[in-house]
Formats: sequence, C-alpha cells, structure tokens
Amino acid sequence: MPGTKNPPLFIPNTNVDSRWWREATVYQIYPRSFCDSNGDGIGDINGIISKIPYLKNLGVDVLWLCPIYVSPQHDMGYDIADYKSINPDYGSMEDWERLRDEVHRAGMKLIMDLVVNHTSIEHAWFIESRSSRVNPKRDWYYWRPARIGEDGERLPPNNWRSFFGTGSAWEWDEGSQEFYLRIFTKEQPDLNWENPEVRTAVQDIVNFWLEKGIDGFRVDAINYIGKPPGFPDAAIADPSTYYQPAMHLYLNVDAVHTYLRELNLATFAKYDAMTVGETPYVPATQMALDYVHPSRNEFDMIFQWEHMDIDRIPDTLLGWKPWALPELKQIFSRWQTLMYEHGGWNSLYMENHDQGRSVSRFGSDRTPEFRDLSAKMLAMFLSTLSGTLYIFQGQELGMANIKGWKLEEYNDVVTLTYIREKKERRIRETNDPNPDMSDLLNDIQRKGRDNGRTPMPWTGNAPHAGFTTGTPWMALNPDFAVCNAAAAVGDKTSVFQFWKEMLHIRSSWKTLVYGAFQLLAPGDMRVFAYLRVHPRAKAAMVVLNFSSERVEWEVPEEACNLANCHHVFGNYNSVEEFGACLILRPWECRLYKYEHLHS
Ligand code: GLC
Ligand code: CA
Repeated sequence: MPGTKNPPLFIPNTNVDSRWWREATVYQIYPRSFCDSNGDGIGDINGIISKIPYLKNLGVDVLWLCPIYVSPQHDMGYDIADYKSINPDYGSMEDWERLRDEVHRAGMKLIMDLVVNHTSIEHAWFIESRSSRVNPKRDWYYWRPARIGEDGERLPPNNWRSFFGTGSAWEWDEGSQEFYLRIFTKEQPDLNWENPEVRTAVQDIVNFWLEKGIDGFRVDAINYIGKPPGFPDAAIADPSTYYQPAMHLYLNVDAVHTYLRELNLATFAKYDAMTVGETPYVPATQMALDYVHPSRNEFDMIFQWEHMDIDRIPDTLLGWKPWALPELKQIFSRWQTLMYEHGGWNSLYMENHDQGRSVSRFGSDRTPEFRDLSAKMLAMFLSTLSGTLYIFQGQELGMANIKGWKLEEYNDVVTLTYIREKKERRIRETNDPNPDMSDLLNDIQRKGRDNGRTPMPWTGNAPHAGFTTGTPWMALNPDFAVCNAAAAVGDKTSVFQFWKEMLHIRSSWKTLVYGAFQLLAPGDMRVFAYLRVHPRAKAAMVVLNFSSERVEWEVPEEACNLANCHHVFGNYNSVEEFGACLILRPWECRLYKYEHLHS
C-alpha cells in the first residue's frame, strides 16, 4: 500500500476569488444572553464591548449580532418594530456606534441580522396596513378574505400550516375583517415583496446600516420572501388536520431570486459587504448554486439545513429521531463537492440560536471526559472543511444542552408551541384535562431552541456565572461551575484552547479553507474521515471517531502514503506512529499532513 501511485483526484477550483470573508471565522452573538453590563438581567451592547478582548483572544474575525432592533420580542427580536433603532434593553445607537468602532479597532468586522420576510405586528407599516382595507400600506402585507367552509364557517384563505406548529399560517383580523399571512408567529406578518414599495423600503434599511459602516448581513428566513401566485392549497399530507405542510409551495419560489438580485445590486454590491442567507429546505443541487454562485449576484453563501434536520422527524417542530453517521457524511460530502466543483461557497456551522448544542447532538455529553473530547472533535471537524466558519457563543466552551429542567422551565416560543399543541391533541384524544406531558422532555432536551439561548457562563465562582449581577432574563445552564469561560481560558487543555489552536492552524493552511474534499470509507458507522487536497498547498487527512468506543481503523488505500504523512494535531496527548491501521480512542480526532499525497 505505501507508495501506491494514484492519479490526481481533483480538478482545482480556480473559480473562487479572494474576498475577505472566505478565510474568516464568524462568531455569532445572541446579545440577550451574552453579557449584561448594567445588572438588569439582559445582555447588552456594552457587555459585548467588554468581551472584545476575549473574542480577539479566541481568534475570530467577524462578529454577527442576532437582532438588537426595537422589538416586542415575541420571537426574541426576529419580530422587528423599527429597523433603524436599537432596542433600549440593549443600549443606544451611540453604544452601537462605539461597538462598531471598537470591533473595527480590534481588527474585526461586524455583521447584523436582517429580518425582512416579516415585520413585527407593532411595526408602523403593519399598524397602518391593518387600520383599514383602503390604507395605502394595505398591500404591504398579504391580506385575503376568508374562505367560507361547507357549513358556512369562516376558514383561512388556504390550508397552509404555519412553520411554527400545526395551526394556520393565516391570522384573522377582527378590525378589517380579513386574514393576514404570517408564516411564523401571529406577531410576525409576512411582508408582500411583490409590492415594489416594500422592496424599496427594505433597500433603504439595508443601505442605512451599510452607510453606518457595518460589514455585512446574515439574512433571516430569506427563501420565504416570494409567495406562489394564487396561494394554492397544499396537498393533504396529514389527514388528521385541516392545515397542511406547505413549505414546498412557499419556499424558493422563482420570484425570490429576482428580488434578491435587485436587493443585492441596490445595496450589498456597492459595498464590500458579506452576506449569508438563511435558507431551510435547500438541497445541495443547482438550487443552492442559484443562491450563492458569484455570477448570480444574490448571496455570498447560505446556511443550508440538511445536517440540522438529520435528527428531526419530518413535518414536526421538534420531534427527535436517531441518525446514522454515513448520512451525515453524505450531507457534508455533497455540499463540499458541489461548491468546490461549481465555484460556489459554503458556510460551516453546527450550532446557532435555533438549535440544540452540537456536543449533545453529534458528540456525547454523557461524561465530562467524553464531552470535552467530542467538543474538540467537532471543532476539528468544522474547522477542516471548506467554507466560511461560524462559531456560536458557548460552542467554544463545549456548552451542552440543558439537563434537569422540567417542562415548565422552558420558555422559547417554538418549545411552548410544541408542548401546547401536543397537549391540546392529547386532551382531545383522552378527555383527560391534565394529561402527562413529560415524555416530550426527550425531544426538547435534544432539540429545543432554549438549549442555545441560556446566558453565557463567564466564570464558575460568581452568581449567575458572572453573566449578570441582577436576575438573568433566562436561567443559566446549571452546569456553569464546570463549563465556563474563565476556567477554559486558563486551562491549556480546554475546548476553548483547542478551538484557538484549530483556528490558528486553519489560518495558515490554505488547503483547509479552499481545498477539495474527498470522503474516505463512506460506509463506516463510527469513523468520519476525509482528505483535503489543494493544487498548491499540502494535503490533509482528517480522522474523526464519532463514537464512545475504541475503534481500529484501517486507512483506505487512497490515503495511505505512510512515509509522507505526519500528525499535526489531535485531542489526546500522545499519538501512535502513523500506520496502515490506526487505533482510535473514544471521540478521538486527528489531523494529518502529507508532504506529498502521492509519491
Ligand atoms: C429564523 C431565526 C429564528 C426565527 C425565525 C423567524 O429561523 O433564526 O430564530 O424564529 O427565523 O424569524
Ligand atoms: Ca443589561
């Protein structure tokens, strides 16, 4: 095996330019839960400013802030009432300007969240729009008359189900006697992008922030903005209810691309801004390239969701199902290959504020040792793939999902909707007004959005982990005594230090950011291994044990140039000599470098 001659495996990707964000690592901040500077229990802008040295030390390049605009917080700021003002909970516009300047002074960039599929019901546009059927802003949202059912009852205009649950995507407005479309909560009416005035108003918001000197946007739920003409009913997939899943009808309609190009040319394109669109239900096909290919002038990259949905029962909000490693490998392999071969670009993430913690979902939080090892293993995984890398606050500490909470302690709107709808159904089916719901804990502990939203644990020896001197708006993950930033920064062997080292390695090894990806041993149920190859830089092999077991792993022939391969980094102290068979310990990860892949 050693010295086997193989032909070159890849056509180099010569299509990508050197825009600044390609090699960048983005750190996502959930401001409400990051750091509270004034003791009101709510994280704020001054709190973020105070942590810039911490972020700089970690080695990230860009900060992305979840929404901090004026909002009644029905969906934690993803329901915006004023796009050009800061919610007083978080500070003032002056505070924000200081944050921008401090971030730039530290050599980092700042991007904001743009939420324009919908506004808040408290936005002035919507208040006007709902005020009467003849208001000039009526057509800024989707208003439709009721449909009359067979027994004369009032039904929504079609049978679409809300994205957040099993109820209708339409809401009745008593005042003006029509329904408005709201794919998310009833406090988030969808904007009518067919109306050119709406599109101009959105451009105005985007330019306002670009003028203020921000460096880009994460664009929320953006493949929802085009709605299918005529609002056709969805086919019946769930005969037990009237409201049917309709994502296939309202996501990714052709018009989205027209709107995005128009937006891009009127805004982002005039600045050196980065854009990442959040796009659930986009597969690794031409559809994805349509959003991100440079020739399209839409986005620089998107957040695809296939790996996030791997453990979700389709058409349920939070229903958990087991997953198998080969499936995860196929997903990543498809995305890596698609973008490489066609000159597109990936975003790399395993966590955000809408997801359970990755160490609990893809690693193991069963013991402190496994948690530590598997968080490092996942760090190596993400940071050895091609694309722009994203770290969600707390991920650098190996934060795990919340353990030990009762159902009543969760408070995210999606979690609450999930519980409420299941409960209503159970009451109907059993006639028991107070049915036991504790079985839902399994799903929520794994997939609830609350898991990603608990306040940052800054230290192990202060009340509320130093997040606030007051009462935190949301309870902390009870494990902060063992998992906190102060402990992690001070410990050379911590998950934090591992991330830091991985970011450092990534920053000086072009193969990791730009190289081609070749999956090894696709069927292996425990080991995820791949080669990374670049025409002008050294090749890499990454070997990840996604299991709590000791695994003997035979190096596949195409990776087996033994004499030339040396170990660069890993999550165990000592490592055996490279050989044809590797003995991998639980959750072990290894990064190898080839002097020459093929001799
Ligand atoms: C996105 C956000 C999520 C929000 C939803 C509606 O998925 O990340 O938090 O609830 O859009 O705006
Ligand atoms: Ca505060």
